[in-house]
Amino acid sequence: MRCGADICGTAPVIDELLRIAARRLSSAGVPNAVQDCRLLLGAALGWDQARLIRQGDSAIDAAQQAQFEAFVARREKREPVSRILGRREFWSMTFALNGATLDPRPDSEAVIEAALAMLGDPMRPVRIADLGTGSGCLLIALLSELPRASGTGIDISPAALRLAHQNALTHGVDGRSEWRQADLLRKGWQESVGAPFDLVIANPPYIPVGARSELAPEVRDYDPADALFAGADGLDFYRVITNSLHDLLQPAGTVILEVGMGQAGPVTSLLRTHGMVVHPPWQDLAGVARVIVGTGR
Ligand SMILES: C[S@@+](CC[C@H](N)C(=O)[O-])C[C@H]1O[C@@H](n2cnc3c(N)ncnc32)[C@H](O)[C@@H]1O
Repeated sequence: MRCGADICGTAPVIDELLRIAARRLSSAGVPNAVQDCRLLLGAALGWDQARLIRQGDSAIDAAQQAQFEAFVARREKREPVSRILGRREFWSMTFALNGATLDPRPDSEAVIEAALAMLGDPMRPVRIADLGTGSGCLLIALLSELPRASGTGIDISPAALRLAHQNALTHGVDGRSEWRQADLLRKGWQESVGAPFDLVIANPPYIPVGARSELAPEVRDYDPADALFAGADGLDFYRVITNSLHDLLQPAGTVILEVGMGQAGPVTSLLRTHGMVVHPPWQDLAGVARVIVGTGR
């Protein structure tokens, strides 16, 4: 008979450890508890998922069990797996995270898809600005797809910018990227960022401050508030960005903005007010209008 440590007092077996931990996380309200336990145990053991399945009846030692237990205790408090492990996959690349950076979302890959589609020829030597760059995931993913492009990631947070630089080094695009601190809500910020650019991308904070209590604990308690909230209607940064396009963009340049649910209409109107031609919205994996693209006339 196979048994876990809490049943028999012998060395614990992987499948049983996973079952016990998944029950714990489910009771704490964690969605996808089984999958999260597998990821955490894989990280604790340094094993890939295939090996975990193959060797489900193997015992693990006390140090490995303690590491897994520590990970599960953190997830039980609703800390996301990506924060526990300090990394997140985005655009099939691994990005380091820290407490100052948003945990990149799969939905934001629509920004990359839209940018690549709009640019067409990947060998164009375009200059890109990424406003509110966080971990740098958007700019670094784009630079990895566009070998002759260069870009500037802009953020208010020095700690986020340091990490973005580290991510650029990891992915071999540091020679084509720079990272600048600026406060987009302060007058004149656009004068010090190296404009004009051919492409401006942004996934700015867009959650209305009043919606804080509706957020999942993983977001509310672990993403930095500065990365989330944007005034009463969530549109503060779109107003600032669209106001600045005249200074930021080349005349025929492109702007690509990630938006929250229900914000496609207002952001389209803002772009039109500033003379941009707006394209049909790009949808995320759930079919939500997620990315708005505008081009200069
Ligand atoms: C929603 S996060 C996006 C991060 C990253 N681009 C991504 O897609 O994962 C928004 C970013 O805007 C930055 N930010 C917030 N307020 C800012 C401000 N006033 N000026 C510049 N950046 C700001 C935050 O630090 C955060 O990194």
